[in-house]
Amino acid sequence: MAPDLSLLLIFLLLHHATAAVVPPTSSPPSSTPTPKPPARSSPISSSSPLDPKQLRALQSLNLPTSKDPCSSAAASCDSSSPFRHLLSLTLANCSEDVALSLTALKSLSTLTSLTFANCPVTPIRFPTELTSNLHTFTCVNSLKKLTGVWLSRLQNLTDLIVSDVGITASGPTIILGGMKFLHSVTISHTNLSGYLPKHWHPNLTSVDLSGNHIKGKIPISLTRLENLVHLNLSSNSLNETIPTTIGDLSSLQNISLASNSLSGPIPESLAALPALMHLDLSFNQLNGTIPNFIRDMKKLKYLNLASNSFRGVLPFNAAFIKGLEVFKVGQNSNLCYNHTVLGSKMKLGIAACDKHGLPLSPPPAKGSSADDSSDGSDDDYDDGDNVVEKKHHNGPSKVVLGVAIGLSSIVFLIVFLVLLSKCCK
Ligand SMILES: *[C@@H]1O[C@H](CO)[C@@H](O)[C@H](O)[C@H]1NC(C)=O
Ligand SMILES: *[C@@H]1O[C@H](CO)[C@@H](O)[C@H](O)[C@H]1NC(C)=O
Ligand SMILES: *[C@@H]1O[C@H](CO)[C@@H](O)[C@H](O)[C@H]1NC(C)=O
Ligand SMILES: *[C@@H]1O[C@H](CO)[C@@H](O)[C@H](O)[C@H]1NC(C)=O
Ligand SMILES: *[C@@H]1O[C@H](CO)[C@@H](O)[C@H](O)[C@H]1NC(C)=O
Ligand SMILES: *[C@@H]1O[C@H](CO)[C@@H](O)[C@H](O)[C@H]1NC(C)=O
Ligand SMILES: *[C@@H]1O[C@H](CO)[C@@H](O)[C@H](O)[C@H]1NC(C)=O
Ligand SMILES: *[C@@H]1O[C@H](CO)[C@@H](O)[C@H](O)[C@H]1NC(C)=O
Ligand SMILES: *[C@@H]1O[C@H](CO)[C@@H](O)[C@H](O)[C@H]1NC(C)=O
Repeated sequence: MAPDLSLLLIFLLLHHATAAVVPPTSSPPSSTPTPKPPARSSPISSSSPLDPKQLRALQSLNLPTSKDPCSSAAASCDSSSPFRHLLSLTLANCSEDVALSLTALKSLSTLTSLTFANCPVTPIRFPTELTSNLHTFTCVNSLKKLTGVWLSRLQNLTDLIVSDVGITASGPTIILGGMKFLHSVTISHTNLSGYLPKHWHPNLTSVDLSGNHIKGKIPISLTRLENLVHLNLSSNSLNETIPTTIGDLSSLQNISLASNSLSGPIPESLAALPALMHLDLSFNQLNGTIPNFIRDMKKLKYLNLASNSFRGVLPFNAAFIKGLEVFKVGQNSNLCYNHTVLGSKMKLGIAACDKHGLPLSPPPAKGSSADDSSDGSDDDYDDGDNVVEKKHHNGPSKVVLGVAIGLSSIVFLIVFLVLLSKCCK
């Protein structure tokens, strides 16, 4: 009896010690763990059991059903009676012998959200009962031999995420063509090939097609998506110029066109995007001068223009650069900075300008790719700029942890001593 009670006491004391310390020190709301709303699937005592057909389907997929599946992390259910039905399901870390069957998928047709994660099963054609209800489909490193046509059948989706899966046979136009309700799409690191679609659904808020083999130019139709907040087309084979209408993306916050073969200037219209937070144009063949308007973008936190062919004087002062979390302009051999304005403390990876605005001495990596591998300057100019971010994230939590551990040890010691004195009497 006594040990149990003392253990409980220790636990309570520890719990109080940590709880009392955490709130006052963690001020920014983003870093405070917000209380989770009660899950839809919370095991209310009066809830009915899961539909037996669905229970059998879960068993056929090797999912544990000894406990109520509706209260597991892998599933959520509605609250209908006499039987509840599945609304969302996650199949993760599947064993090799799991196989999808049409019967199982048909009985799972109440699902609106289905996730495969590290689940290398062979995909079969989903029955219409399932595809018509499915709104969210996620497939990460799962489903062997996925084809574009297979994905294109999921026409009622609002959210599609496919990553680290090879997609063969057809490109983004076929996959997305019929998805009339799509809000958000991620198809990344899938070896997807082909061109970007000419038609896009106007309600799209997020498009991430990074890490594929998409080629050709960025279509003007893409810049008409006025609800688009995130656009990531990085690491593809896109060429030609950035559309001058890019500034029509009036909701845009984060854009990456990095690691393509884009050429020409940064379009002036970009000045019309005051909400822009993240701009990554690195590793292209962009040229011209870096426009002045970038320094007036008040929300900008991340700016990467490295490894292009920009020229002229960098139009930023130290205050602007220090205000950013990430700033990179290295490997632009004709770009230079004004020594009077920026001094020599900042390591930017580019040379200082002479009085005509031309690079004084050749910078360490003079454009030629042969120098890239031996180029250590990358780390140099990173360090200075990332310090702010790191301090911001780690500082408070380390203090909290320290204090919490300290207090806990003291409490533990006291309880231990009390116990010791009791039992040795
Ligand atoms: C799957 O496995 C990974 C690593 O082995 C683990 O981190 C993850 O939590 C697992 N996911 C589920 C849902 O079990
Ligand atoms: C999409 O949903 C509608 C009804 O909500 C249904 O009639 C249609 O068949 C569904 N489409 C597909 C491809 O499942
Ligand atoms: C993409 O193709 C490369 C080269 O053929 C291959 O090594 C890689 O595994 C493929 N990626 C995926 C996700 O299938
Ligand atoms: C776009 O969203 C609006 C409001 O959410 C909705 O009324 C409209 O039908 C949607 N349009 C399409 C093409 O889905
Ligand atoms: C851009 O890429 C496409 C497709 O690979 C090619 O046909 C076209 O010639 C390229 N354009 C330029 C200017 O290199
Ligand atoms: C774009 O995608 C790449 C790789 O998928 C990722 O590393 C990068 O952070 C993304 N950038 C944005 C702006 O989302
Ligand atoms: C958008 O960019 C900001 C600043 O770099 C970053 O903190 C945030 O995670 C990005 N959001 C997404 C969805 O990539
Ligand atoms: C930028 O590159 C384009 C295409 O490569 C070229 O036509 C143009 O003359 C270049 N502009 C400048 C200012 O160097
Ligand atoms: C550098 O800045 C100083 C002070 O603002 C200015 O007088 C000078 O013309 C600038 N030099 C170049 C090359 O732009």
